[in-house]
Amino acid sequence: MQGPRSPEVHEFSEVVEFLNQNLRLSSSWTISSEYPTALSANNIHNMSIIVEDEKIVSHAVLKPLVIKTPFCIFKVGAIGSVVTDPHHRQRGLSSRNIQNCLSLAEKQDCDMVILWTDQFDFYRRFGFELAGIEHTYVLENKIEIKNTKLRFVDNNRVDPEALLKLHTQHTVHSMRTPDDVRNFLKIPNSNLYTAWNEQNQLVAYAVEGKGVDLTNYVHEWAGSVDCLLDLFSFMQQKRNQPMTIMVPSHSTNLKKNLEKVCTLSHQGFLGMIKIVNRDALFAKIKKAFRAEGFDQIVFEKQGDVVVFGIGTDLYTIKNESDLTRLLFGPLKPTDLDFMSTETQEKLATLLPLPLWIWGWDSI
Ligand SMILES: CC(C)(COP(=O)(O)OP(=O)(O)OC[C@H]1O[C@@H](n2cnc3c(N)ncnc32)[C@H](O)[C@@H]1OP(=O)(O)O)[C@@H](O)C(=O)NCCC(=O)NCCS
Repeated sequence: MQGPRSPEVHEFSEVVEFLNQNLRLSSSWTISSEYPTALSANNIHNMSIIVEDEKIVSHAVLKPLVIKTPFCIFKVGAIGSVVTDPHHRQRGLSSRNIQNCLSLAEKQDCDMVILWTDQFDFYRRFGFELAGIEHTYVLENKIEIKNTKLRFVDNNRVDPEALLKLHTQHTVHSMRTPDDVRNFLKIPNSNLYTAWNEQNQLVAYAVEGKGVDLTNYVHEWAGSVDCLLDLFSFMQQKRNQPMTIMVPSHSTNLKKNLEKVCTLSHQGFLGMIKIVNRDALFAKIKKAFRAEGFDQIVFEKQGDVVVFGIGTDLYTIKNESDLTRLLFGPLKPTDLDFMSTETQEKLATLLPLPLWIWGWDSI
C-alpha cells in the first residue's frame, strides 16, 4: 500500500479514470469537466491518492479558493471527490486521504476547509461541523417580467470577462480568472441565462445545474436585484418547472423580494466547515473588528478553550463546532444568553461573518 500521496503527472489520467468508474459510471462525460479547476493537472499537488498493487484504490482532492468578503479575505480549502474502491472500504483509507487534505490545507495557509456531504457523522470525526448559512427559495408560480426593455438569452456563449465583471461586484466572491469561467461555461448540464439592456450590456446572469448536481437549482447569479428578478421570471417561463434559488444570508434585498414570490423558503447550512489555521483566522477577525472601531476585541486560544469578548467582558468556548457556528453562523451572538447585551451587540456587528461559496466553485 502506497500513500496517501499526490499523484505523479503521468498518473493524472488514471486518477480521472478511477473517479469516473466509481462516481460517474452512468454519465456520458468525464468528472474532470464538472470540476475543471479542482480535477485539473494544475491542481495535481492537491490530490491525495492511495495505491495498492499499482492501482488507485482511494482518492480525495483539495481546491484552495480565495474568497473576498467585506471584512476579510479568506483562503478556504474545498474538499471533494472523496471515494474508495468498494473492495477497499472500511479500512481507514478515506480517513487517511482526508487527513492528508487537511494537512495540505494547513500548509497552504487555508483558514478553513469546507465540503458538501450527507455523511455528517463521518466528517464530524475530523472536526467538521454544519455551519454557515444558505437560504433557498422555491419559485413555482409564473412571475411577470417588469422591465420589458431587457433582452434575455439562454445559452452559454457569453464572454467570460463580462460574467467575471458582474461576479466581482458581489460583496462575497471568489477570485477567478477568465479561463476558470471559460471552463465553468463548459460544465455539462450547467445552463447559463443572461439579461441584456438596450445598450447590449450584460446586466444579470444566473446558472442552473452543474454536472450530476444542482439540477433545477440556481447556484450562481449576479447583477442588480431588479434585473435578476426579471431574469428568474424569464427562466421560469422558459423552463416551466419549479426552480430553487440559492442565496447567501447577506443578500438582504434579494431575499426580501424572493420571499414575496416564492412558494417555499428555507434556511440551511452553507456546508460542513472545519477551521484549520485558528491563529491566522483569529488574527484576521481581530483586525476586522479593530477596523470597525472595536480595539478591545479578544479572540485567543488559551489551553483547550477559546477566550473571546470585548475588553474585560470575556467568555470561553470549549467546543470547536460551537466556535465554527459562532464565526460563520447559524449561531448569532444574540443567541448567547450568558453574554452581556452590550458585548452581544458589539460582536453582532461582524458575526456571523459573511461567507459564501458560489456553485461553480463547489466540488
Ligand atoms: C464514504 C467513503 C468515501 C468512505 O471510504 P472508506 O475508505 O471506507 O472510509 P474509512 O475506511 O476511512 O471510514 C469508513 C468507516 O470505516 C471505519 N474505519 C476507519 N478505519 C478503519 C480501520 N482501520 N478498520 C476498520 N474500519 C475502519 C471508519 O470509522 C468509518 O466508520 P463508519 O462507517 O461508522 O463511518 C466510501 O464509502 C465511498 O467511496 N462511498 C461512495 C462515494 C461517497 O459517498 N463519497 C462521499 C462523498 S462526500
